[in-house]
Amino acid sequence: MQTATIKFDHFNALADKAAGERIRAAKAALGNKAVLLCHHYQRADVYEHADLTGDSLKLSRLAGQSDAENIIFCGVHFMAEVADILSRPEQVSILPDLAAGCSMADMANLAKVERCWRELSAVMDPDEKITPVTYINSAADLKAFCGAHGGIVCTSSNAPKILEWSFKQREKVLFFPDQHLGRWSGYKMDIPLDAMVIWNPDLEQGGLTREQINKAKIILWHGFCSVHQMFQPSDIIKFRNQYPDGIVISHPECSFEVCKQSDYIGSTEYILETVKAGPPNTRWLVGTELNLVERLAREVKHEGKIVQFMASTICMCSTMQRIDPQHLAWTLENLVAGNVVNQIKVPEHEAVLAKIALERMLAVS
Ligand code: 13P
Ligand code: SF4
Repeated sequence: MQTATIKFDHFNALADKAAGERIRAAKAALGNKAVLLCHHYQRADVYEHADLTGDSLKLSRLAGQSDAENIIFCGVHFMAEVADILSRPEQVSILPDLAAGCSMADMANLAKVERCWRELSAVMDPDEKITPVTYINSAADLKAFCGAHGGIVCTSSNAPKILEWSFKQREKVLFFPDQHLGRWSGYKMDIPLDAMVIWNPDLEQGGLTREQINKAKIILWHGFCSVHQMFQPSDIIKFRNQYPDGIVISHPECSFEVCKQSDYIGSTEYILETVKAGPPNTRWLVGTELNLVERLAREVKHEGKIVQFMASTICMCSTMQRIDPQHLAWTLENLVAGNVVNQIKVPEHEAVLAKIALERMLAVS
């Protein structure tokens, strides 16, 4: 039975502990009508309520496989969009706080990517020569652009495989929005660094000459993650000097120099699995978001493993952090009352094309 929507004001001042209890009660009342998917960067007092956790690729698959009427996405906006696109039409995707975006995803938008495509067409026919690849950290309309132009989506865990697929289609790749993931993945495929050029969307023709565009194998969008750019090679050097047997593991959104100096590189799920499977009594330096690192440190402490955060300053994903127990309790209690709040619905015309690019990715990875 539906009642009037409960306003968020009633939850704003709720203590975290009280919100936690209300989340548990609402989840129990909803039973299998709702599934709570949680990204690894979520704060501990949200993560503890997760039904399923994962990196972006795993969560995309889980969203597509879920039977629940309501998918509550504790992550950021693009993730809830992917859940909406890959789930059945009658399922509802919900983001507890609509302000939970991704600053990297915002560094590319459809107008700028279309302009880039137009400017590239002055040099060559992009639909014949260039596969557009969007990192999953992007808006649905950019995934739709890739769907419409023979392109594909990638995540941090499948980018090299996706690049291989892309080069089988066409001779060059336009990779957006994360330059670092694109460069690292290209480097792992033995593409020379000087064959990867940066497209600056604020400059005419990306700031590149015709010759540079013609010579390039990968055209990298000038985007980056504000969290991962904080990690520095000097953090690794300091750690190695202090702990010569220490092991360094980083996310591929880190700069090229950080990736090059790390022992292991991979997605959030890969980082968790690798450290958990590592030998006891080892020391790890981890280059990714703080909530994940702190949780991992607690989980492996009993095996004598020491997990350290790479940066000396606090690097949280401030947008993920917006999903707090108060917003989650508000969302769930509304569902119990029969009201859907904060639904993420991708317009049909975009969803159809974005799904093509996402399904290409799922088939390849
Ligand atoms: P993962 O796919 O590795 O979880 O990465 C998502 C993300 O946004 C990292 O910043
Ligand atoms: Fe986006 Fe960076 Fe946050 Fe990941 S950590 S969601 S890339 S802002």
